[in-house]
Amino acid sequence: MSGRKRILTVFGTRPEAIKLFPLVHALEADARFDSRVCVSAQHRGMLDQVLEIAGILPHHDLDLMRPDQTLDGLTAALLTGLGKVLDVERPDWVVVQGDTATAMAGALAAYYRKIPVCHVEAGLRSGNIHHPWPEEVNRKIIGTIAALHCAPTETSAVALKRENVDPATIHITGNTVVDALHWIVARVEADPSLAAGLADIEARFAGKRVIGVTSHRRENFGEGMEAIATAIRRLAERGDVALVFPVHLNPNVRKVMNERLVGLDNVALIEPLDYPHFARLIAISTLMLTDSGGVQEEAPALGKPVLVMRETTERPEGVEAGTAKLVGTDADRIVFEAEQLLDDAEAYAAMARAHNPFGDGRSSARIADLLVG
Ligand code: UD1
Ligand code: UDP
Repeated sequence: MSGRKRILTVFGTRPEAIKLFPLVHALEADARFDSRVCVSAQHRGMLDQVLEIAGILPHHDLDLMRPDQTLDGLTAALLTGLGKVLDVERPDWVVVQGDTATAMAGALAAYYRKIPVCHVEAGLRSGNIHHPWPEEVNRKIIGTIAALHCAPTETSAVALKRENVDPATIHITGNTVVDALHWIVARVEADPSLAAGLADIEARFAGKRVIGVTSHRRENFGEGMEAIATAIRRLAERGDVALVFPVHLNPNVRKVMNERLVGLDNVALIEPLDYPHFARLIAISTLMLTDSGGVQEEAPALGKPVLVMRETTERPEGVEAGTAKLVGTDADRIVFEAEQLLDDAEAYAAMARAHNPFGDGRSSARIADLLVG
């Protein structure tokens, strides 16, 4: 149909898929658009889990994941692979999300063809190019290229203006992660069997307080991961808690966690959960211990305190609201902060408020409207 905007949405990892499926749904349902999807499959299993629950069948799948892939090898393969898809599709817009190698290479390949780029989750900055690494620089590169910057919050919009991005191209849309979370919570409410797979763990740890854990950041590899494992071991010595840790498939994470944590009574090291089950894990957890970006946004939305095992965050909104706390990767500090929440009801109550500084669940509709122009 003439006049329809052809939108090519490009993604490759679990968090991008989670944050872009609501937009893909919105574009597919809207007659103003011809929606096309290209996945790099920078992640494989963890991406496929999201594609399946969201019901997305990509038009292109580059199947690029290699075991323990290097950043340069991955980036080179992405650039050439995505370039070829762009030559075939010739879209009116390329949409990328966040800060991954796929998002950065997708934006660069589009720029090389003078195709305008829409950046979803624009303007997040920690101010330190080594934390998170390499995401801070990926965001800056995409921010230089994008013609449309969908900033989740006022803070991220201000960060872009500080970098002299044309204010007319910056729009505060909210973060699509809230759309995704609302969608999945509604799906599970309608069909609880979608999240029933945690029943064994829930029975095993009945009567204990659950701490949900995730960790995968590259800047934490080595010492940081070791310290996180030490903190988990120490917390697990308490009889009243259980730590449930779906371990990221990156071998650099799995090696340390398997060596240090397997076989402990109060620790369940499990495979990555699909999104309904992960939402359930947050719901049954007393608190979340994480270095993830997305979990920092989801836990506050579900009223769960989140201790962020990082030195800096590009998501200060949760910290400012008092629902998230930066605790770094020192084992003593992690244990101290977690125990404070476990043992001090007042400290816990102060952090355990449902709070949604990142969005209202209608971000995808706003972004779709912007793509018409
Ligand atoms: C990537 C992103 C990071 C994002 C994270 C989300 C980059 C540079 N990094 O990091 O920004 O926060 O995803 O999780 O873009 N693997 C599997 N199966 C999978 C996924 C990964 O086996 O489904 C293993 C593979 O051995 C792969 C390795 O993990 O080589 C690393 O994957 P990669 O996407 O390069 O980096 P992440 O650390 O996952
Ligand atoms: N997540 C999931 N299963 C898991 C762990 C996380 O579905 O076992 C989801 C989580 O809800 C969030 C996203 O994955 O939406 C975060 O991805 P990740 O931590 O890998 O990347 P980051 O957000 O740090 O880039």
